[in-house]
Amino acid sequence: MAATRSSNLDDTFYKAADDFFAANSKVGLTYDDITLATLYSQILPRNTQLGTTLAESLHLNIPVISSDMDTVTESRMAIAMALNGGLGLIHYNMPERDQLSQVSRVKYHVQGLIQDPIKVAPEQLIGDVLALIEEKRFGFSTFPVVDGKGKLVGLLSGHVVKPRYATKKVMEALTPRPQVHTITKKELGKDPIARADKFFTEHLGIHKLLVVDDEDHLHGLITMSDVERITQERKAQFKPARDAQFRLVCGAAVSATRNAFGELDRERILNHVSGLVERGTDVVAVSTAHGHSQGVGDTVKVLRDAFPKLPIIAGNVTSAAGVEYLADCGANAIKVGQGPGSICTTRIVAGVGIPQMTALYLCARAAAKKKVTILADGGITKSGDVVKALTLAHAVICGGMFAGCTEAPGEVMEIGGKLYKQYRGMGSLAAMKAGSAARYGHDKADTTRKLAAEGIEALKESVGSVDRVLAQLIGGIQSGMGYLGAANFDELRTKARYIRVSPAGQREAAPHDVVELKTGN
Ligand code: XMP
Repeated sequence: MAATRSSNLDDTFYKAADDFFAANSKVGLTYDDITLATLYSQILPRNTQLGTTLAESLHLNIPVISSDMDTVTESRMAIAMALNGGLGLIHYNMPERDQLSQVSRVKYHVQGLIQDPIKVAPEQLIGDVLALIEEKRFGFSTFPVVDGKGKLVGLLSGHVVKPRYATKKVMEALTPRPQVHTITKKELGKDPIARADKFFTEHLGIHKLLVVDDEDHLHGLITMSDVERITQERKAQFKPARDAQFRLVCGAAVSATRNAFGELDRERILNHVSGLVERGTDVVAVSTAHGHSQGVGDTVKVLRDAFPKLPIIAGNVTSAAGVEYLADCGANAIKVGQGPGSICTTRIVAGVGIPQMTALYLCARAAAKKKVTILADGGITKSGDVVKALTLAHAVICGGMFAGCTEAPGEVMEIGGKLYKQYRGMGSLAAMKAGSAARYGHDKADTTRKLAAEGIEALKESVGSVDRVLAQLIGGIQSGMGYLGAANFDELRTKARYIRVSPAGQREAAPHDVVELKTGN
């Protein structure tokens, strides 16, 4: 007789999505209101597949996206996200040309290639270089030497950057150009790390390789230690998310910009997105607080007509009708979430928004009909929330989870012996004045009326690198999939069974009745 793997008794209590949400249609539910029931499993967490396809030409190796917020995603964050297999959406609270260069930095990021290495000039004194190292606290003392036009003159080796040579000029101490090992960008080819790895093996004792163009202008520096670290990392389970040309994937947010007459500024939107596409942007996100609106729909239509193959994310919505509308306008992936964010006050200020699990359920069913995908945006505070979200959505968008990371924009500040970074809502007054007012249907130049803020300015504790935060998240997602016997997200979505949790059940779910010595992470 086969061992029992399921029971009718369980089915009375633990319901599949359609039955569960229909039975709870009178109340809006969010992550902590529910829990997932375990199922018989033959799946080990480490063997689960975390790949997700958001649009025909947009595939991620992990289902995590960093939010298009000005305290979360610029090029450094987008690079870190893509290197881990996810995606960063570069925010639009900056001049368009700056956003274009942010995208370029991601698309031309060669892992291990320091694109803009610290350089010194031939006329400088070794003493000046020592002072620079001291002031900036550099952990290295070898520098490329370039002339006023950026042409390579030589390499200043750490062996000569010593106080005893302080009064000597760099030009007297450098290793001259003919003896410096260089490679052109073209020679680096499609897999620069493999190429550099080969170079270091063939050139005994050489630890630095300079990258130049055909006119000998310096374009970068590759160090042996970086190459060794990356070669190690390549054995990691999750590969970087790359485009067909082996570049990291990158997304950018755009707004439904209006002209002085309050009409949609089609020309400006098209110019902006053309620039983004030229730079290699893999997906644009039409990011607003109210996606089920004419302005957002028309923006998506304009973009769909002009760029038939470009993956478009649009939002935000919390209704089936909102998903259907944006899908009909041409969006591929739809952001779901109004007011769940850790810095959001939309529900308090405007009195609208739907708790996330209920919103995701309705949107997921509409999305399946329209053959589009949905992204759970906001309110994620732990990996368990991600697992719950992914029973309905194709990826999650997180702001607060990443705002304290080293790669988020902004400085670390020390308060009372603890380290923090700034995190603010895009609907906070400060962010709207910096440019995001259109996202909330306001005009930043409108000084006669007070902007109604729908977000706050806050601090997040500094949490180190994105790699570290993602490792925790991914570990949790895989663990959840193991408990549900789901090898991939299709299986997670079909297998999930839910039950509501009482307030006592919520208390039971967190550490309780102990003195906590160390947090879980
Ligand atoms: P988390 O919870 O990850 O949420 O910090 C990030 C998401 O919140 C949205 N967002 C806002 N929503 N007012 C809002 O109501 C705001 O000022 C605001 N700023 C960001 C956005 O969807 C983001 O991804």
